[in-house]
Amino acid sequence: MECLLISEDIIQRVRDSNDIVDIISEVVKLKRSGRNYVGLCPFHNEKTPSFSVVPEKQIYKCFGCGEGGNIFSFVMKTKKVNYVDAIKYLAEKVNIVVEEKDGLVKNANDKIYKINVEAARYFYSNLQNNKRAKDYLMNRKMSETIIRKFGVGYSLDSWKSLYNYMLRKNYTELDMLNAGLIIKNEKGAVYDRFRNRIIFPVFDSRGKVIGFGGRVLDESKPKYLNSPETSLFKKGINLYGLNFVLKRGDIPYLLMVEGYMDCISLHQFGVDTAVASLGTALTVNQAKLIKKYTNKVIISYDADLAGQTATLRGLEILRKEGLDTRVLKVPSGKDPDEFIKNKGKDEFIKLIDEALPLIDYRIQRAGEGINFKIFKKEPDKIIDYVRKISSILTELDPVEKDIYIKKISENTEVKEQSIIDLLNTNTNLDKESKEMYNIDRIGQKSYLEPVYFKAERSLLKLMLNSEEIFNYVRSKINKEELLLDSHKKIYDLIIMKIGYITESHPLIEILCDDIESTKEWINIKELDIPFSEQNSFKLVDDLIKEIVKHKLESKKQTLISEIKSYEEKGMIDESLRLVIKLIDIQKEIGEL
Ligand code: GTP
Ligand code: MN
Repeated sequence: MECLLISEDIIQRVRDSNDIVDIISEVVKLKRSGRNYVGLCPFHNEKTPSFSVVPEKQIYKCFGCGEGGNIFSFVMKTKKVNYVDAIKYLAEKVNIVVEEKDGLVKNANDKIYKINVEAARYFYSNLQNNKRAKDYLMNRKMSETIIRKFGVGYSLDSWKSLYNYMLRKNYTELDMLNAGLIIKNEKGAVYDRFRNRIIFPVFDSRGKVIGFGGRVLDESKPKYLNSPETSLFKKGINLYGLNFVLKRGDIPYLLMVEGYMDCISLHQFGVDTAVASLGTALTVNQAKLIKKYTNKVIISYDADLAGQTATLRGLEILRKEGLDTRVLKVPSGKDPDEFIKNKGKDEFIKLIDEALPLIDYRIQRAGEGINFKIFKKEPDKIIDYVRKISSILTELDPVEKDIYIKKISENTEVKEQSIIDLLNTNTNLDKESKEMYNIDRIGQKSYLEPVYFKAERSLLKLMLNSEEIFNYVRSKINKEELLLDSHKKIYDLIIMKIGYITESHPLIEILCDDIESTKEWINIKELDIPFSEQNSFKLVDDLIKEIVKHKLESKKQTLISEIKSYEEKGMIDESLRLVIKLIDIQKEIGEL
């Protein structure tokens, strides 16, 4: 949880002194409707109003697109500012002076930096004294020099070694918790987060240690464990390895890989522009970070992963920020780490030179499995293919579009004009269906959400109900088992701020410092659960089942697609292995 820069008391005063109807009226034309106000939603396109503002509760909600929030999240969203700036903006309107607790925060962060460096040193010396861990890295051909450069270490196979070490160094339990180095369980017992793992310190671009990743030495799960989010360690704003790349004078391009091992290995073999995204989707923040140093990014992800929609979305973010974004393919499904160890730097540089621009890569993928020589005799396939690529091309500016249409026409021998015609019918279709989507009656929910959203909300809502249910929910499901990040945050806030006190506390809303969690908190508050003391425990059990079921279902979907792809490649043993897993999962689902 981020440490708030402004005192909770001031935030409440700012909220209470402003009126949400005034603030929203600056952007949306509102009309009174009973006790509420309605208008055209500023967050999606619509012709009939489904956006409503409830002055009594000081919230807004759109029944068309599901957006919702309070005065702060409205300002954050429409003015594109962060929580603190939204508070300041609103404070100014009502002449409240906002003083930041800046000094305090800075001190707290300095403390985390210090304890992190201390921990990194400790892990490093553990590694030097542990034969098994050292052998593991030697087997993976990691050199002594690169181990030192990246500060690779080892966490002992023990529950409290780091904890005790830090106590001796005069750090408190709270310091360790703030840095995410230890975990406190429900009963209040503490233990080291990282045990028996190879440790990779994560540096920010200035080379300061902000967190850690830890890998098991065998095949056990989870393979990697990372520091939790702390006030220094945040997902999506950093790139692993960037601090080393910045030592170069000029940076012709960044080579982006997925993993710690890939990044380190590339540096060891002389590709010193490698950074890792650490298995998470890329964000606009990262794109902006990259743009400070270079205008070209080459992505080398696992072939399957690179084609996945989530990854492609991340890569599109880079492209849309104006970065020359290319995709490098490592042959035969190897990861960059294995490839460079086997084939060496020069072969890898060849792959870099052959990397395809993102759009070409996407077009190529759309054409996979199609034989263009007999293609023109199969009009169905042509249409299919052009449909697929049209969604890619619509994102381009007219000049680019023109170039790609020429290229595709050459490859497929389909006339340029025919492609253009197809593109046009396609975009018209899109528009029509989009408009249909928007024709909704006021108050009618027209967006769909997965069932588990509601299950999670209901659980959190029930926690506010009584001490018994609060404790029961806590005993049945922990934060990490919730699926939405915003729900995890609210779960923590409820525990931190409410305990079992039944009234929903206004402080929680104030501590929701981002748009998503504000929206979810309001959704939770507004939720109506048919509920009686007698059925509440059963209700909790059912809701948890819902969440478990969702997880199993999505595992099942992944397995099915993996099985298909193995079958297509003729890898029968592998596919059978997964079929067995699939049967297990189906059984589990059946038994729920
Ligand atoms: P090796 O298997 O040792 O070669 O590591 P790798 O870095 O190549 O791992 P992999 O390609 O499987 O995953 C890429 C990155 O995704 C890792 O470096 C991690 O940052 C992340 N990752 C992989 N598995 C897990 C996991 O179980 N949990 C978490 N939190 N992250 C993971
Ligand atoms: Mn690997």
